Amino acid sequence: MDVARALARRRMVRSFDGTPVDPDMLDGLCATALWAPTAGNCAGVRMHTVYGAARPEFFARATDVAWRARSPRYAGLSRAGAIVVVTSRPQDYGARYGEADKRASGLETLDAWPVPYWHGDAAMATMALLLLLEESGWSATLWGDFGRAAGLLAWLGATDETLFASVLVGRDDHGDRRSASLDRAVPARRDRVSRVGMPPDAPPR
Ligand SMILES: Cc1cc2nc3c(=O)[nH]c(=O)nc-3n(C[C@H](O)[C@H](O)[C@H](O)COP(=O)(O)O)c2cc1C
Repeated sequence: MDVARALARRRMVRSFDGTPVDPDMLDGLCATALWAPTAGNCAGVRMHTVYGAARPEFFARATDVAWRARSPRYAGLSRAGAIVVVTSRPQDYGARYGEADKRASGLETLDAWPVPYWHGDAAMATMALLLLLEESGWSATLWGDFGRAAGLLAWLGATDETLFASVLVGRDDHGDRRSASLDRAVPARRDRVSRVGMPPDAPPR
């Protein structure tokens, strides 16, 4: 599958049929996704994969009893065959940008970063994983579960990492209800691209 096709086909799927995901396959896709660009070659992104009996434990930490009781999506999401928790290590970025060739950036201290590149790196690796899953015939959704990050990271044994998001992976059971987000009126993709410094009718270089 070419990249443009994978991008166009990929959609979030929020209801799975419970099919298990092969750990070697998914761990391999995660490692491949980590070819994604990384600021200053910090390599500060981590992916924690969750399989089998550990999946309910993930949901127990990422959500609370009240949410699980009221969410119409919980049952479908909980049938994900695997979960990838994507994190990063901000301290690696501070250390790297304090090295001789980067020190002039003034970014040795984390709160000096106007754009936290550790989240940027995590997003790039996550997108790469979503495309690899699409190519491999798996469905997925990206889940922002940072509200309970501390407990989740403690369970993962990753208290020195920062949570980015989780990717729930599985086979689509087509039981999802349409996301309200998709019904928002948003600018067309082409209208979000603007060309600067060339006459509008000049061919792109
Ligand atoms: C940073 C980020 C966080 C997201 N968090 C959630 C989430 O917590 N729950 C969810 O159902 N979808 C989440 N999404 C998915 C978006 O709702 C989805 O990408 C958007 O509605 C467009 O739909 P599509 O990806 O199927 O094209 C998230 C997406 C991004 C990029």
